[in-house]
Amino acid sequence: MAIPQSFLDELTARCPIEEVVSDYLPLHAKGGNLWGLCPFHGEKTPSFAVSPDKHIFHCFGCGKGGGVIRFVQEIENLSFIEAVRKLAARAGLEMPEEDQAAQERRNRRKRLLELNKQAARFYYETLKSPQGKPMRQYITKRKLNSAYVKRFGLGAAPDSWDSLIKAMTAQGFAKGELLEAGLVVAGKNGGIYDKFRNRLMLPVIDATGEILGFTSRVMDNSTPKYLNTPETAIFKKRSILYGIQWAKLTKRSFFLLVEGNLDVITLHQAGIDNAVATMGTALTADHARLIGKYTKELVLCYDNDAAGVEATQRAMTVLKDTGFRVRVLQLPRRKTPEGELVKQDPDDFIKFQGAAAFERLLAGSADQSEYRLETIQKKYDLTKTDERTAFLKEAAQMIAQLSSPVEREIYAGKAAEAASVSKEAMVREVEDSRRRRAGQQRRKEERSALTPAVNLQPQARDLRYQNVRSARAEEGLVRLLFLDSTLLNLCRDLSPEQFSSPLWGRIYAALSQGELPPDPAAFDAVLSGEEADLLARLLHTPQSLAEGRQAVQDYIAVIQEEARRNADKGDPLADLFAIQAKKKQKETTEDQT
Ligand code: UTP
Ligand code: MN
Repeated sequence: MAIPQSFLDELTARCPIEEVVSDYLPLHAKGGNLWGLCPFHGEKTPSFAVSPDKHIFHCFGCGKGGGVIRFVQEIENLSFIEAVRKLAARAGLEMPEEDQAAQERRNRRKRLLELNKQAARFYYETLKSPQGKPMRQYITKRKLNSAYVKRFGLGAAPDSWDSLIKAMTAQGFAKGELLEAGLVVAGKNGGIYDKFRNRLMLPVIDATGEILGFTSRVMDNSTPKYLNTPETAIFKKRSILYGIQWAKLTKRSFFLLVEGNLDVITLHQAGIDNAVATMGTALTADHARLIGKYTKELVLCYDNDAAGVEATQRAMTVLKDTGFRVRVLQLPRRKTPEGELVKQDPDDFIKFQGAAAFERLLAGSADQSEYRLETIQKKYDLTKTDERTAFLKEAAQMIAQLSSPVEREIYAGKAAEAASVSKEAMVREVEDSRRRRAGQQRRKEERSALTPAVNLQPQARDLRYQNVRSARAEEGLVRLLFLDSTLLNLCRDLSPEQFSSPLWGRIYAALSQGELPPDPAAFDAVLSGEEADLLARLLHTPQSLAEGRQAVQDYIAVIQEEARRNADKGDPLADLFAIQAKKKQKETTEDQT
């Protein structure tokens, strides 16, 4: 929607920048400007300036600047139109007309958001009332302090079928609206009842502070443990991140993605204020886009169980090629007093090991390679010799794929330590694996480069081609010369030394000097068994003479080109050959004139 300039002028006039900025941070006058700590980057001395005269802000630290609309956009992470709407509301200005349908949609959304807000208020009040006692006890048991209960707007749904319905209809909300918001459920006989009963209520809030819906936890062991608002016009799980309203303000460079909503609250309370959770779903591309508005660095901290491993792997797939830097934080299992090893989520970890320990883990949290290595490690029992060998093999294969030698060194060390072998042995294993990989790669390339007829390298090691492209042309040329020796006339400036394969070079030399007749049998005496085999196989390959002359010229061009290329690599002999070839060519040209 295009907004008329006249409206924007009135809006900015009614929203002085110094007042709007002061809604978010304290400003102090100094030399004609107002100064404060920049809200867009961490700093201890103010470099954020607001000029009431020029109606602009500018940070001399991070460079952000602009007018009042820009400021609201940046600080609230809003689009231009959203920021205008927000300022218009602040100034009590009516937004200019927009089209009917859009206006209706927006009104409906507004109404649902308002209903959710009132419901959250109701749950919050209930928490403080006698009906909220079980939830208050539960909150104490979970060691959540009142500041964070308030910060996250926790509440209590009473153990009743219609408390919320009564409270909301009393405020003028219709049954249809309650259904639309997913706060009530339609019964069989046309009635409705409260969806959330006897539960701890957690409002789900978006980055702009609107309440999109709720998640809730049971107070006993019944199921489902967590119950969410169903998908509604405003509650769309695939794009919601629990805790985003606070995480977006973090000064840390990354977000921490965890599984549980209560984990998010515990983490924030422990000072880890960048934690977010998906609403019990796998990470989606929408989530990634939302996170990407704030940071391109993500630490994944899923539960240490099979489902968590799968979720981690799936998240990595989603994040692949998105430009995110992803690390994985795996919480160690905990030994119970009975000596049993049990998995922990962030909430458990902080309860048993403390926030400082979590910070330490976070600081040293592994990158993807470490995670992959650990995943491999878990598959094997390293106390058994044969499993240890298998682990080392698989680990070496994984490490061999790392492109950085430093990384290979580090992870070889880690794998060696895990399996109690010497680091040297592991490094050797990794380098072997790399050589094998490189070999496989090269062979694959060679196979596809060779003609289908002679699609294998000679078996004998000393006959193997050094230059497959050239060797392929040499084969073709030799084959043609055996079929029609008059083609030798075209080869006057091709010297045997230009051949990359010594075998084909020797045969070519013999043919071009007329030492031996172009009869394969005649070569038997001068060729080894393997060489003879190779020649026989070559000559059994069907070849047409139809384009023979052109083919010979093409083959010669390839052989000479490759010889020159080889000379460029600094082979002194090849250099010499190239000079000879030139000389010969000159002679030939002179002959012709
Ligand atoms: P967990 O069962 O691991 O729960 O589910 P938790 O967060 O550790 O729960 P507490 O500590 O017992 O309270 C992890 C997340 O999976 C989703 C919720 O988002 C939950 O936070 N979930 C779990 C559901 O959506 N429904 C369920 O029934 C269970
Ligand atoms: Mn838990």
